[in-house]
Amino acid sequence: MCGITARIGTDESLEPLVSSLENLEYRGYDSAGIAIQNGTGIEINKFEGAVSKLAAEVSTTDHDGPLGIGHTRWSTHGPPSDDNAHPHTGCGDRVATVHNGIIENHDELRTALRDRGHEFSSDTDTEVVPHLIEEGLANGRSPGDAFRAAIDRLEGSYAIAAIVEGEPTVYATRNGSPLVIGIGETANYLASDVPAFLQFTDRVVYLEDDDVVALTDSTHRITDAHGTAVSRPVETVDWDQEDAEKGSYDHYMLKEIHEQPVALRQTLHGRIGGDDVELSEFPPGSFGEISTVQFVACGTSYHAGRYGEWLLSKDGVDATTHIASEYAGSPPPADEHTLTIGVTQSGETADTLEALERARERGARTLALTNVVGSTAARTCDDALFIRAGPEIGVAATKTFSSQVATLVLLAERLVRDLTGSPTDDHTARLDALASLPEHVETITTETRAAEVSRRCLGDNGHFFIGRESAYPVALEGALKFKEITYGHAEGFAAGELKHGPLALVTEDTPVIAVGTGRDQSRLQSNISESQTRGAPVIAIAPETATDLAETADVFLPVPATHPDVVAILANVQLQLIAYHAASAMERSIDKPRNLAKSVTVE
Ligand code: F6R
Repeated sequence: MCGITARIGTDESLEPLVSSLENLEYRGYDSAGIAIQNGTGIEINKFEGAVSKLAAEVSTTDHDGPLGIGHTRWSTHGPPSDDNAHPHTGCGDRVATVHNGIIENHDELRTALRDRGHEFSSDTDTEVVPHLIEEGLANGRSPGDAFRAAIDRLEGSYAIAAIVEGEPTVYATRNGSPLVIGIGETANYLASDVPAFLQFTDRVVYLEDDDVVALTDSTHRITDAHGTAVSRPVETVDWDQEDAEKGSYDHYMLKEIHEQPVALRQTLHGRIGGDDVELSEFPPGSFGEISTVQFVACGTSYHAGRYGEWLLSKDGVDATTHIASEYAGSPPPADEHTLTIGVTQSGETADTLEALERARERGARTLALTNVVGSTAARTCDDALFIRAGPEIGVAATKTFSSQVATLVLLAERLVRDLTGSPTDDHTARLDALASLPEHVETITTETRAAEVSRRCLGDNGHFFIGRESAYPVALEGALKFKEITYGHAEGFAAGELKHGPLALVTEDTPVIAVGTGRDQSRLQSNISESQTRGAPVIAIAPETATDLAETADVFLPVPATHPDVVAILANVQLQLIAYHAASAMERSIDKPRNLAKSVTVE
């Protein structure tokens, strides 16, 4: 949802800034731009299109300098165009700014600025910011004061970085949108996310809402909303740069699908002990006061939440899952006996953060289940549990879904024991199966026939994904992944619901992808037959031991036989691969699907 970056060093900044934008492109790719302070003024290059276009254009420029800001955009106000691309300036080129988020009162500010003679050159909400800073400078304020006075006028959610001609400082702030400082040897960095500068430094400072930072090549001075100096810890991130690069894979998505064994090993490392879980964050009894669990999440994370709900409900815990934006709009009852779990890979999804806030207002205990240690969700919730999947760059979530569900299996064990007084049903076998997931995923990624099978899913009218129990959220996830990157119509259903409506759409042109867990196969088999009777080709994905399904389905994609409570995580890997190979055959923009961005920091 837009990526912003800045660099200030003792050497030249243009190349590192372009590289940071390439690393941030998963946050938006409608347009990209850079402003460099080059000794004679501020030089701006910005273009509609991908960062590669900007990179090609600036490769021939000799305007370089030690200080710059950059932006990659996912449009919210104004269509993608050169004019709407950031950085934006005031009436002159004295001030340049980049922004992520939404300035809600921009109309009112723009009208007032116009009345005072300011002229605007874009449709963006952002452009009011450089004009406000410019006005502050014209009124005799120092650059730092002019920046602070400008942001004091803003309502909404934002991360903003600004530079002022002749000033060796980057000014920045955040309110509801992420912003992190990178501390380097000869330069300092600022970005929406750590991968932007991970190749240069792993020492970071996460900013809090309302922090204002003045960044130079050797210092970072942080003040709070009242201008009082505040200290934020310098942390070292344990992600490798290699994790954040594509390597020999054609796409990040494929790399991240193949990284799942490693991601799952990290997720589970040290967290299973004998026949119980060892969650250092949550020793036995941690949830003694809780009686109800609510999951709030969006998209893929919502499907992981549904999986978590299923795990808890089957063992007697009162659990529900809510689409975060709906929860935020009309929150269900919650009190101090409610645990509200925000499932969010990025930890920055605005809808999820708002839902967590609503839960907090009602007295609920909040827990962030996230991949990003310094994220807003991790910092604002009462508790955090990290999924440890490593950086995920592809917009379509893959390895983080697997790690989210694996983490939820661990958490479910603790919650069920604390809330019911007994372990989960069959817990020893289930934890063993969990521990074996990494090698089972390896088997799938080496032996899969998904590329060949995906050819059955090209150019069809619709694709229906069905499953029961834990395979139902996975069917929803399979459909989301397929539609996201192939742009083909796909819907997920509880297999039993097919006959209550969707069957009207099933024809020989609508492949049905049925996900089985090995439990209660006969009902799924009936649903498969219902589809086949209407002429639909059926692809079944189920444990290799499900010979009945293998015989009934038109195509069978096996996964290693393991505990039925976790086997759907494996089936999901096959679904990811089907979506990937279908999208690849259609030459889709796999890592950056149209209209989508990875981290959705607007509501
Ligand atoms: C789909 C996808 C999105 C995200 C959703 C929530 O592949 O990635 O549906 O799952 O935007 O994002 P997080 O998990 O960061 O809150």
